Amino acid sequence: MFAAATATLDRNWRDGYTLPSPRLYPFQWNWDAGFIALGLAYVRPERAISELRSVFRGQWRNGMVPHIVFHRPADNYFPGPDAWGTDQVPWRPAGVRTSGITQPPVFAFIVERISSLPLGRTSEWEAFRREIFPSLVAQHRHLYRNRDPLGEGLVYIQHNWEAGTDNSPVYDAALEAIDLTRARDVSGLRRDNQTVAAAHRPTDVNYRRCLALVDLFNACGYRDAEIAERSPFLIQDVLFNAVLARSNLALLSLARDLNADAATVGEIEGWCEKTSAAINRKFWDAERGFYFPYDLRADRRIEIKTSSGFMPLFARVCDDAQQRALARHLTSSFAPSADWLLCPSVATDEPTFDPVRYWRGPVWVNVNWMLHHGLRQAGLDDLAERVRSDTLRVLGAAGRWEYFDPRPGIDPSALGLGTDEFSWSAALALDFQRNPDAF
Ligand code: GLC
Repeated sequence: MFAAATATLDRNWRDGYTLPSPRLYPFQWNWDAGFIALGLAYVRPERAISELRSVFRGQWRNGMVPHIVFHRPADNYFPGPDAWGTDQVPWRPAGVRTSGITQPPVFAFIVERISSLPLGRTSEWEAFRREIFPSLVAQHRHLYRNRDPLGEGLVYIQHNWEAGTDNSPVYDAALEAIDLTRARDVSGLRRDNQTVAAAHRPTDVNYRRCLALVDLFNACGYRDAEIAERSPFLIQDVLFNAVLARSNLALLSLARDLNADAATVGEIEGWCEKTSAAINRKFWDAERGFYFPYDLRADRRIEIKTSSGFMPLFARVCDDAQQRALARHLTSSFAPSADWLLCPSVATDEPTFDPVRYWRGPVWVNVNWMLHHGLRQAGLDDLAERVRSDTLRVLGAAGRWEYFDPRPGIDPSALGLGTDEFSWSAALALDFQRNPDAF
């Protein structure tokens, strides 16, 4: 498995950065690059820094790190750079085209994890930490300044693609509120559902709504304030905020290590406190014992159980009772019996659960990796080990697929879905195998 994972990363490497999958995603993606850099740190350490530098070449001058960086043209993906229309944005980066939305801010905690590896003890890495620190601060500051209109310490996402969990059912209602009368029909432009089975991908109407949002952002000139006023889609997402909270902790220790100025340290301390408290205040449902996202536009909680609800464990914000409640969900509604693969992206007792359709039921390796470490932080070692060994078992039996069918009774070698040779599945398999340290 070790050699196979390395081979996947080598195959997907393109002179400076890694494609998530040449077949399906032929550019560099934001949070993918973070997880991939971690995997590279074990097997191709000289490439890990390049991976991170490449994705930050796409950072906008307002601090936003785009979800796709189009380093080189490719015609097997829609929407490509022309559809995003970001060339008109005055604060876009020079020299490279990008999308106009972001993804969960994983980079600070990735830098922390890599710092504990042999690569992390080199002078190149030490210089790189200094180089990237201001970009990380700018990324977080952009989120707090532009995506937290109520000053709550929680940031909202403008698009379901910003969540990383693209077609999760938690976004259905907000997407359905989009007026499609003038929206273009994009079904003929999609490439993804011709490459892999359409039943495993988002539906055409989901894509149409996604593109209607892109068109709205374009009409708003990608000005966050205008988008906040006009868009029907403003969601405070649990995974996004939990990742931000975990990265805040990493950023704070980096700031202290680097002797950053007191004002910056103070600013990061403020983010840490506010977001951790707000996750519990606004997302935690004490009665149901679970974390749910919040629709700012509709002003209501979105009560659908998804694997994102476990991510506050990774953010280290849960008390004992919360940890126990989450563990109960994991071994009941998410895995009704011990032979289910952990962790389905949607609880199996939700009416929207679909074991093969992308983020509506299948298991994803990056979520499992964060879940594993969250469970270990909580001292739930048996469950943590089950998540890790389930992940490695299916990766070993089926290969480094993009996502996996969680149902019992299927030949493990047939559980892989989406694209094969998926980079973050390979990269995180390496960390799972090579690094027993909790994180
Ligand atoms: C899909 C996933 C997203 C990922 C991208 C590239 O859109 O939902 O999380 O970043 O593919 O792999």
